[in-house]
Amino acid sequence: MSHQSDLIEKDISAYLKSHAEKGFIRFITCGSVDDGKSTLIGRLLYDSKMIFEDQLSALEKDSKKVGTQGQNIDFALLVDGLAAEREQGITIDVAYRYFSTDKRKFIVADTPGHEQYTRNMATGASTADLAILMIDARKGILTQTKRHSFIISLLGIKHVVLAINKMDLIEFDQNIFEEIDKNYRNFANKLGFHNIVSIPVSALGGDNIIEKSEKTDWYNGPMLMEHLETVQIEEQNVSAPFRLPVQWVNRPNLDFRGFSGTVSAGNIAVGDEIVALPNAKTSTVKGILGTSGEKNHATFGEAITICLEDEIDISRGDVIAKINERPETTDQFQAHVIWMHEEHLLPGRPYLIKTNNQTTEGVVTELKHKINVNSLEHESGKTLELNEVGLINISLNQSIAYDPYTENKSMGSFIIIDKFTNSTVACGMIKFGLRRASNVHWQAVDVDKKSRSEQKHQKAKILWFTGLSGSGKSTIANLVEKKLHATGRHTYLLDGDNVRHGLNKDLGFTDVDRVENIRRIGEVSKLMVDAGLIVLTAFISPFRAERQMVRQMMDKDEFIEIFVDTPLEICEERDIKGLYKKARSGNLKNFTGIDSPYEIPKTAEIHVNTLDNTAEEAAEYIVQKLVS
Ligand code: ADX
Repeated sequence: MSHQSDLIEKDISAYLKSHAEKGFIRFITCGSVDDGKSTLIGRLLYDSKMIFEDQLSALEKDSKKVGTQGQNIDFALLVDGLAAEREQGITIDVAYRYFSTDKRKFIVADTPGHEQYTRNMATGASTADLAILMIDARKGILTQTKRHSFIISLLGIKHVVLAINKMDLIEFDQNIFEEIDKNYRNFANKLGFHNIVSIPVSALGGDNIIEKSEKTDWYNGPMLMEHLETVQIEEQNVSAPFRLPVQWVNRPNLDFRGFSGTVSAGNIAVGDEIVALPNAKTSTVKGILGTSGEKNHATFGEAITICLEDEIDISRGDVIAKINERPETTDQFQAHVIWMHEEHLLPGRPYLIKTNNQTTEGVVTELKHKINVNSLEHESGKTLELNEVGLINISLNQSIAYDPYTENKSMGSFIIIDKFTNSTVACGMIKFGLRRASNVHWQAVDVDKKSRSEQKHQKAKILWFTGLSGSGKSTIANLVEKKLHATGRHTYLLDGDNVRHGLNKDLGFTDVDRVENIRRIGEVSKLMVDAGLIVLTAFISPFRAERQMVRQMMDKDEFIEIFVDTPLEICEERDIKGLYKKARSGNLKNFTGIDSPYEIPKTAEIHVNTLDNTAEEAAEYIVQKLVS
């Protein structure tokens, strides 16, 4: 859809040319269900004549049918495209709309105002230049206005319009308007916005949207549309250092090798010296291919292929930069994250971290603090729940090239993905790299795992027992150790209850603590395997993700998972420690199998059945399996 312009009839090619050259602005509207957001956008579209005739008559018909505005047009109907929204009277997803005027093109992200939809807002705000915050003049600045402001500031929006709406319901009172404006500026001065413009409007009546309202003769600022058309947006990405994240290595034949991607910032020219990261190999630009053939230079936003003078090794996921403006590389960084999933954050659990164009494994090593999005206060916590915001440290399996989010949104943002369900659980904004990692080097030693285990005449490994509490893990592991010891093997048994008296005595039984419990046991076991020992571990270790993580920490064939498969009913019947009884009566929370999950192994090397076998038989079976 486009706007009406006299030029369309008079000179269509002049119109198309001017249209193509117009600048873009992306904005987002934030507000709650009945602040009048949809009405405002509908009004912008309608008053600037951006509606087709057929849409207009459908709108008039619908308005009469729905009857919210009597015989008048209900502009919200124009925007609330989804049937469910109309029925429930709420907006339920991010909707992008495109429109244009003679001066500018606009993309507007309309996002819902419900608290649980912070993630939709984050999605809409991540690409926006400006935010319109809808304020109900009768209510003033609400907690949710503050929450929205914080999220948009976190996502790097610098321009804010306070659309103080429903002025008609307060008789266009200047004092109320000024009071709201003052309150907001007081609150927002910590958020780093470049400009805040308050406009008294009535979305319903069209006051100060396109035309100046006669009812606000005391107001000297811009109309909403005028402001949207003229506000100066910093074009950070054009002047910023050049970045080309490589999406594809283009090698159609042996004579051609190019690196393709979209320029995420800055510009590049033939002859420029470049560096590819994280490998830091350097070369010079030999040629640039754009969408319509060869060119001498390219700039932000263009999809290009770069050819280099030298054959250097660059793969998908690398970043090409100019030699003297390189991004930093790191495998540990600090970042703000917005948690977007019902499954809460588990520090220590391996997740997939997807940056610009690279996916690597990583763990959240520390939750520094949570931020109360309503009061902006820092709060301590061990996890992040849906819609919560926190500052975290992340450690990756490999280095990435990055820029801080404030300098380059695409180079500084990432999402966190659950490895097993593949769902996006959070989005993040990198603050800075942590240097501690780069100053610690692995120290080579001469006596190694191989020589240590050869001296003991054995192959070092972990026998990882997993199963419910009371399944018989400790008993069987103990018998297996005795048998191995009797045949001269060098062993060590790490048992859940025992380790929780020492190394892990600070940990309880929440999911977060269990993940940390297993992470530490994994690290300790790895050291013991390195010492040449056969390590036996007896922990419930209820989550597949952490068992898998320890497996991945070890070399091939070093991790033997042993599932002690005793059904819950039997463990509960035995109830040697009386814990099931306590859990059933509600006196023990988070008990595995009762109100905390146990994920059955899918990849166990050894499976023991304790129903048909005694502990002695099960232990013998395991020892036999190990020697065979
Ligand atoms: S794990 O889940 O983190 O692997 P771990 O094996 O270390 O657990 O500890 C389990 C032992 O702690 C159980 O055998 C039981 O004796 C004791 N325990 C106490 N509270 C709980 C609980 N809420 N859930 C499970 N085990 C508990």
